[in-house]
Amino acid sequence: MFDHRKSAYFLTCVSVLLLAGRAASAQNALYSAEARQRAEALLKQMTIEEKVGQMNESSGRVMQGLGDKPDDLIAQGGVGSILWQNDVKEINRLQRIAVEKSRLHIPILFGYDVIHGYRTTFPVPLAMASSWDPAVEEEAQRFAAVDTRAAGIQMTFTPMVDIARDARWGRIVEGAGEDPYLGAAMARAQVRGFQGTTLNEKSVIVSVKHFAGYGAAEGGRDYDSAYIPEELMHNVYLKPFHAAAEQGAACFMSAYMDLNDVPATGNRWLLTDVLKKEWGFQGFVLSDAFAVRSLATHHFASDPADAAYKAVTAGLDMDMGSLTYSKNLAKLVKDGKLTEAQIDAAVLPILAIKFQLGLFEHPYLDESKVDATLNRPEGLTLARRLAARSMVLLKNDARTLPLNGGLKKVAVIGSLADSRVDIEGGWTVEGLFGEGGKSHPVTVLAGIRNRLGAGAQVAYVGGPTPQKVFPGFFDALIGRKITPPPSETEVAGVLSKVKSAAADAEAVIAVLGESTDMNGEAASRATLDLPGIQQKMLEAAAASGKPVIVVLLNGRPLDLRPAAPHARAILEAWYPGTEGGNAVADVLFGDVNPGGKLPLSWPRAAGQEPLYYNHTRTHAPEDEPGFTSRYWDLDSKPLYPFGYGLSYTAFQFTNLRLSKTSIRTNEATEVAVDVKNTGSVAGDAVAQIYIHQRSGSASRPVRELKGFRRVALKPGETQTLKFPLGKEELQFWSPATRKWAVEPAAFDVWAGEDSTASLHAELRVVTP
Ligand code: BGC
Repeated sequence: MFDHRKSAYFLTCVSVLLLAGRAASAQNALYSAEARQRAEALLKQMTIEEKVGQMNESSGRVMQGLGDKPDDLIAQGGVGSILWQNDVKEINRLQRIAVEKSRLHIPILFGYDVIHGYRTTFPVPLAMASSWDPAVEEEAQRFAAVDTRAAGIQMTFTPMVDIARDARWGRIVEGAGEDPYLGAAMARAQVRGFQGTTLNEKSVIVSVKHFAGYGAAEGGRDYDSAYIPEELMHNVYLKPFHAAAEQGAACFMSAYMDLNDVPATGNRWLLTDVLKKEWGFQGFVLSDAFAVRSLATHHFASDPADAAYKAVTAGLDMDMGSLTYSKNLAKLVKDGKLTEAQIDAAVLPILAIKFQLGLFEHPYLDESKVDATLNRPEGLTLARRLAARSMVLLKNDARTLPLNGGLKKVAVIGSLADSRVDIEGGWTVEGLFGEGGKSHPVTVLAGIRNRLGAGAQVAYVGGPTPQKVFPGFFDALIGRKITPPPSETEVAGVLSKVKSAAADAEAVIAVLGESTDMNGEAASRATLDLPGIQQKMLEAAAASGKPVIVVLLNGRPLDLRPAAPHARAILEAWYPGTEGGNAVADVLFGDVNPGGKLPLSWPRAAGQEPLYYNHTRTHAPEDEPGFTSRYWDLDSKPLYPFGYGLSYTAFQFTNLRLSKTSIRTNEATEVAVDVKNTGSVAGDAVAQIYIHQRSGSASRPVRELKGFRRVALKPGETQTLKFPLGKEELQFWSPATRKWAVEPAAFDVWAGEDSTASLHAELRVVTP
């Protein structure tokens, strides 16, 4: 007899298997069976030297790492990939050698740091994360992918998904801030943007970096060791990486630093146990620049051969720049220290991905089409829209903003206001290293002049460029000297010009912050002060009594305590990209209502770092009566909380409810909240959902972001927003049980505009 229960059970099992299969095959889908078979067939024809060649990414132009005879090395099949070459003619020339002169005609994979746009630059990643809108990242990176592929590059060294809880760390500008949930959403969006949903001849493969824990450098000092307990790795630092792997990222880049005393590039737990085994990653792992050789510098490996051995056995597939694999791997195989199967395992995904990208069929770029693609005018419209969407309004006393578009006399002060480099931010493909001129960035000064038109007078006082005290990594690389600070006479001259410009103006726009090279790689800071004489210039302007609006161009939060009292409004623009100046004007004059929110906790002072909202509770928690600051001399709380940002309108959150207030550990509930625009202009609200688990096998963070959505609301409009709360949101990796689980407990749920939201509901989770 037909048994309905059995058949239902059978069908459930089949769908569970199918679903499980789908999850496990998310990475298998990286390349087709055909691409894999072609890779396997090719592998069978290759000598050990040719295989090792595929594991070598040689540096192109800037680092000159191809050696004395780069053409010969390529012709011998010794180069699988080249980084830092963006001269289109040279790319085709090098590719021709690989395809026409090497024995097996294997094309080169070209890689570059296309981080926030190619010729048209979009806001820096920290800014894009401030949009709290993953579509911003996806649109920007999709546009950049088309440019990148047209320019003959098939791999980008982005996204940087390192969690950064310390604003002193210079690379905070390159990531999505401090939160794993927001960071995971931004990571997924970037993978989709560059690669598309499946890899094909239009995709640019991402290298998700820096795997993993790089942002936890001690003291915020770039490259310093990170000590991260396993539970924090799973619950915080690895989350955005895992999301990128699930989204189908084709490449991961290892980090430079020691993670719990084992360099990430030689860390088998990270590269093999977690990434390849637990997550089923099917792509390849690339080292950061020279990081294989650096295993010896760390005194982890005894010499370069040992470094190559330790990296390969840890699961590191491609050596960026150091030629350590090229010089040592073949011998290690011949000496029987490594097996050829270990080498094959590294080379297979590299070849399969080259097939999947269509590189064998279309190895060359069309030089005649490059400029037309890179100059697509729609890029500028997109860049302007995304930049305005990424800005965060920090302060707006007495509705100083938006400014009246009919202003006739405005003063703009600060050297950053008219700096083409500092509007775009770091990692500009065609702007860095003095080869600009191809992109035409709009400075803030130009944007304001564009907006006010010829009928208005816009006076400008620049002042000295904020200076670094010590030369950094890139300064040394490009031979840039640090200029001495301005003399007292020069300072007095600038301040007197500021005073008269302010006295003569209806409003002053002070563009303040950091020069681009003060953040990024090897650019950590011990203080978060406004550098140079910017504070003095601000005070001189404010002394005029005219309204002063501060626009910040910077790559990290700064100590605004001295500046804030002199500013009626503060707009955080980060480094907004090619159209940044126009976008700043759009926001200042109210053509765009700002809707960005902080992706980090804004400190009062550097001494508070590391500072992050999702810490665990102490025995004297901040939300209980009697709390006093834990510092003798400073409030413990941030100046602006994670998730914070103002609008030209106001929003009200009400009616927080759960579809079920009690669920079993294997069930889900739905959170709903009504959001109303109570002001008189249209604007974007970012609804944020936070949770806290009140007891369990381990202490849990006071709050954790578990849902967010940016919505546009007309004046008076209300929308009901719904968010799931189930396994994905409620589970955590427990140090006590050493596994992922949803634990039975009472949970707080909050909804609101930032991480201090007070609208509250309670969820009970019980054992099934
Ligand atoms: C950085 C990476 C970058 C690589 C190649 C390294 O110094 O850490 O983020 O992708 O250089 O430019």
